[in-house]
Amino acid sequence: MTDPETRDRLIAAARQAARHAHAPYSRFAVGAAALLTDGTIVMGANVENASYGLSLCAETVAIATASAAGRLADIVAIGVVGGMMDAGSAAQGTDPVRPCGRCRQVLNEAAQLGGRDLDVWCGGITGDRIEAHRLSALLPHSFGPADLGL
Ligand code: THU
Repeated sequence: MTDPETRDRLIAAARQAARHAHAPYSRFAVGAAALLTDGTIVMGANVENASYGLSLCAETVAIATASAAGRLADIVAIGVVGGMMDAGSAAQGTDPVRPCGRCRQVLNEAAQLGGRDLDVWCGGITGDRIEAHRLSALLPHSFGPADLGL
């Protein structure tokens, strides 16, 4: 498990990322921060679309950003936070947000390519309620690159 200082860094980065959410339709801002093997943190926020079904989740954006830097196999942990935006567009809420099913599968690609389980830290936009999960527990019996010979 990622040490407490790193966990706190990841959650803080995810909260920072959530400030850049483009979520005018759901008004639910999500931020994600992926930790790489060398300590680098890569961030993402949800990007909604007027064609609602095309919206991108924060975790997927963060993982795609890591992949674009050639670091898909180097992800070791991810922090995720989210909450409803108020009238002024500041997000709020202390309930932990957990990755959706699609994001779990996207995370699984990185995990299997890197040959490691991922720590998944989940929190709200504010507060101390941070949950610790393993991707293997969030997505048991997964299908991944190994099934296709990678
Ligand atoms: N969302 C994420 O960014 N990540 C998740 O794991 C769950 C949902 C976003 C998608 C959409 O923009 C908003 O939250 C409400 O579903």
